[in-house]
Amino acid sequence: MKQELIEVKEKALIELSKINDRNALEEFRIKYLGKKGLITLYSKRIGELPPNERPEAGRICNQVKKEISSLFKEKKEEIEAQEKAKRFEIDVTLPGRAIPRGHLHPITQTIKDICDIFTRMGYTIVKGPNVELDYYNFEALNIPKDHPARDMQDTFYISKNVVLRTHTSPIQIRVMEKQQPPVQIIAPGKVYRHDSDISHTPMFHQVEGLLVDKGVSFADLKGTLTAFVHEMFGKGTELRFRPSFFPFTEPSAEVDIRCVICGGEGCRTCGGTGWLEILGSGMVDPEVFGFVDYDPERYTGFAFGMGVERIAMLRYQINDIHLFFRNEVMFLKQF
Ligand code: PHE
Repeated sequence: MKQELIEVKEKALIELSKINDRNALEEFRIKYLGKKGLITLYSKRIGELPPNERPEAGRICNQVKKEISSLFKEKKEEIEAQEKAKRFEIDVTLPGRAIPRGHLHPITQTIKDICDIFTRMGYTIVKGPNVELDYYNFEALNIPKDHPARDMQDTFYISKNVVLRTHTSPIQIRVMEKQQPPVQIIAPGKVYRHDSDISHTPMFHQVEGLLVDKGVSFADLKGTLTAFVHEMFGKGTELRFRPSFFPFTEPSAEVDIRCVICGGEGCRTCGGTGWLEILGSGMVDPEVFGFVDYDPERYTGFAFGMGVERIAMLRYQINDIHLFFRNEVMFLKQF
């Protein structure tokens, strides 16, 4: 019996070494270690042996069972590990899953590009509040109560003396109140007007510019804005300074560029004139310096304010301002 058991063990070990899947392993377990398996059979037969042979046979039978069991356990772990690895196998040839990437809104991009051009020229970016005092939005900009200039910039009143700012110009005052010249800032932001039709939205964006120092002239204003237009719309872009009026600048000029749609021939976008207005500007009115205690005998300066939607529309050739605010992905995806 001893010999038989050793043979069984050897056979079992050879079989086990060839197994490499779960089902075969289970068959092996039933055949050798199961309730009706070979080892159990032998252990039952020990009782049939002569009493003096029983202890040794029992010992050998146990030892064989232990050895087979322990190798069986090892095999089981090995097969389970293999199956697990297979489940997590990665096919490196499959195309990756793209992570959708957003981007800045065309208005935000345009603000950024405008600011970049001016910061390269030495301007510092500043911000001001959207909810503004009547004093900063109008009064200190030389627009007194009941002045007709207020009519063009009717706005939303929070209370008698608090408004949603109608332009970024109040930031000029806030900056000058806090520091002495030289001043060289640009101020981007949202502005609000009581205006809503096909070409106006009640909220839009402006970028304000202000430079004050000794000996600043209109030539500096022209040079600065010419450099800006050439950077923004291309070196060859023609521009003109057209006399205008703002209560806080004197003299004042509006800047037009050659129509980017028709090239000057005259079309619907430029109303047949061949020119497109992009900003208002002028030399800071001495009256304004009076409000911030700057000496108009010592200092001069220029200011300008441009409409961001306007510039973005020209630059991307967009014909409807409302497209910027509809949040249509089909539209926004193009930029
Ligand atoms: N604030 C003016 C507007 O909104 C533009 C402007 C700014 C004009 C600075 C002159 C100087 O129309």
